[in-house]
Amino acid sequence: MNIGLVGVGTVGSAVADILEKNKALIAARAGKEIRILKGVVKNIARKRELPFPVISNYKEITEDKEIDVVVELMGGVDAAYDVIKSALANKKAVITANKALLAYHRYDLQKLLNGAPFGFEASVAGGIPIIRALKEGLGANHIESIKGIINGTCNYMLTRMQAKRITFDQALKEAQGLGYAEADPSFDIGGFDAAHKLLILASLAYDIDAKPDDILIEGLGHLSDEDIEFAEEFGYTIKSLAIAKKVGSKVSLRVHPALVSKKSMIAKIDGVMNGISVVGDKVGETFYYGPGAGGEATASSVIADLIAIARGEQTPMLGFSSGGEGGITLAKKDDIESKYYLRVLVEDMAGVLARIAQVLANNNISIDTVLQRKKRVQKEWANLLLSTHIARETDINEAMREIATLGFVKSPPVMLRIDV
Ligand SMILES: NC(=O)c1ccc[n+]([C@@H]2O[C@H](COP(=O)([O-])OP(=O)(O)OC[C@H]3O[C@@H](n4cnc5c(N)ncnc54)[C@H](OP(=O)(O)O)[C@@H]3O)[C@@H](O)[C@H]2O)c1
Repeated sequence: MNIGLVGVGTVGSAVADILEKNKALIAARAGKEIRILKGVVKNIARKRELPFPVISNYKEITEDKEIDVVVELMGGVDAAYDVIKSALANKKAVITANKALLAYHRYDLQKLLNGAPFGFEASVAGGIPIIRALKEGLGANHIESIKGIINGTCNYMLTRMQAKRITFDQALKEAQGLGYAEADPSFDIGGFDAAHKLLILASLAYDIDAKPDDILIEGLGHLSDEDIEFAEEFGYTIKSLAIAKKVGSKVSLRVHPALVSKKSMIAKIDGVMNGISVVGDKVGETFYYGPGAGGEATASSVIADLIAIARGEQTPMLGFSSGGEGGITLAKKDDIESKYYLRVLVEDMAGVLARIAQVLANNNISIDTVLQRKKRVQKEWANLLLSTHIARETDINEAMREIATLGFVKSPPVMLRIDV
């Protein structure tokens, strides 16, 4: 089977390397040899040690009659979409690791397939075979929830901030130094990368055609030492979670930092590793753990797709042969329900707690626990730490707005969701 690599960077060169090093094993599994005929790169002048020629025009791959599979590993949305459309128009099988492209165009691509195999195992959680688990292994189940740590950069930073009590900026600098965070990290720490992956998983579980703007996405930006201390003291750890949760016929999709019980499996995923819990109505909870990024781990998933194509395996791209999960629709952001943790910096005087409790009650929110902490640097100020029972997103947002306007409140209140 002949392939063309469009993009020979971190992942593309690892694909080439593994195909060479594990050649005999892969051929035995695939039932045929898999050969790279050529690759496309941007900077054609750069010297590279590759056992195949590189070119700059992708059409020399997508229109080449000798090539059976086009592997898109260049990234970006529009240019990659053009490459894949050209490959499909020329009746090639396609593999991509491009979650950003799939977050926007997976349903458009599904319409263009015309029977062509389309693999994207590498697009979510790098080396973890979560796409196959949802499409195949868990096929008998209604999926009740998916809860994942699917951005290694955020998880690395949170792990370090909690274990070493370093600041957000220090953790980011460390992550960049180790190559875990991009020079522009906003995509990862803003939650967008995890959101793209969550949208792909939600299609496989529920056939939900949502785009990033349709779902709740919150980054790490506002975490402080006080929140981390509170979490520690009450048996929580803070994780950035991507969550799909079905309640009745509605599914909520969201990415945000959350307080997670230290006893849960997901709390134990540290550093750059990824972990995903999937609950099926028949199987119960299943859990997937492994490297979510890196050249070799991601290439491992790309090659799994190549082997499947070589074997002639053909599964519906988004996991459903016809219809979907049956009337399941996306919940509105405002209707999402959670328990919440609030931190309000106040002037330390009588009546403050009663006034805040009143605002919460007026917005249908009942308080679970309350703690008061003196602010170390400013003795006449105190942090009020509250946790709530289950409440609606729209109510908590309104309460936060009202609390921010109270005269004795010294800075905008902080809200974190508590994972239940
Ligand atoms: N890296 C990971 O750990 C990881 C994990 C999961 C998924 N992914 C996904 O895998 C894809 C590739 O990631 P990567 O980390 O391998 O990226 P990368 O190291 O930046 O490599 C990109 C490759 O594509 C080429 N390229 C970029 N724009 C091009 C253009 N307009 N025309 C022709 N060639 C172009 C580059 O050429 P030059 O070599 O000349 O620069 C390079 O060879 C992305 O969609 C990414 O989201 C990556």
